[in-house]
Amino acid sequence: MVIRPVAPAGNGAVPLSTGDLEEICAIIYKRSGMVFGETKRYYIERRITDLIDQRQAHSVRNYISILRSDLNETELLINSFTVNETYFYREQHQLACLSNSILPDIIRKKGPGDRIRIWSMPCSSGEEPYSIAIWLLENWPLVDAYNIEIVGSDIDTAILRHAVDGYFGQRSLSRLSPEIRDRYFEREVDQQRQLIRDLRESVTFAKGNIVDRQSLGALGRFDVIFCRNLLIYFDEAAREMAARNIHELLNPGGYVCLGHTESMSRISETFEAVRFPDAIVYREAVRLSDG
Ligand SMILES: C[S@@+](CC[C@H](N)C(=O)[O-])C[C@H]1O[C@@H](n2cnc3c(N)ncnc32)[C@H](O)[C@@H]1O
Repeated sequence: MVIRPVAPAGNGAVPLSTGDLEEICAIIYKRSGMVFGETKRYYIERRITDLIDQRQAHSVRNYISILRSDLNETELLINSFTVNETYFYREQHQLACLSNSILPDIIRKKGPGDRIRIWSMPCSSGEEPYSIAIWLLENWPLVDAYNIEIVGSDIDTAILRHAVDGYFGQRSLSRLSPEIRDRYFEREVDQQRQLIRDLRESVTFAKGNIVDRQSLGALGRFDVIFCRNLLIYFDEAAREMAARNIHELLNPGGYVCLGHTESMSRISETFEAVRFPDAIVYREAVRLSDG
């Protein structure tokens, strides 16, 4: 077989035929729920060109057959298509809602020392679960009276490694006051500040795919789930699947926080909106099964 070298498109990237583009988008969708298509052609071609180079695949068709046979390559593909934008204290009103309304309700059915489990899914590079930890230390007087467990999950294995390392730049930290930065972060080195060890160790990170129930199997159930700025990348079917999995992993009486442009009401009838003074969040409307 003769392998013809790929000719770069005008933008320096390998041009994809409509069929190849659709095939790659179908693989991304099947493995992650993220929807890409013709409108993102430039973005897709750039990333596939990089992946072909890294893998020394020489052609788009070769690369697609590697993708079809090698799950590790699919993981790298997904990692390079995720949008990891996040920062500390994003949508701070929801953190206020957590300490002012959600947790006071959750602890009505718990006793001192009981576990409260909070899931940040997706957590990207860790700013969201670490924000929850910092916020509760700063703003919830009962923080020491309960056994609070915070778990961060994401499909992107590369970004999870950043989360565990806990180094953050100015852009990530910009919403935090100088006092909070000094209390919870080491001194700046190379324009990065590392979160102090105690806080890094207060969050557990685990890979998870919100549209793949099996990948979430070992995580157990949660009292509060932050699922912010993820459903926007999905179509209706993937959102339904995510809502079903969130529902299964939510303890009875638990709450779900979505991003401000996202809503559960159109996605799933199992949730109802709850209007608290600081934010609108979601709670189970009808429990389908406890299985
Ligand atoms: C924009 S970030 C949101 C991070 C954080 N929740 C926030 O609001 O700041 C979106 C994240 O979703 C992750 N993601 C995409 N598809 C996913 C899936 N199927 N399961 C879990 N995480 C996914 C990406 O890797 C990315 O880190």
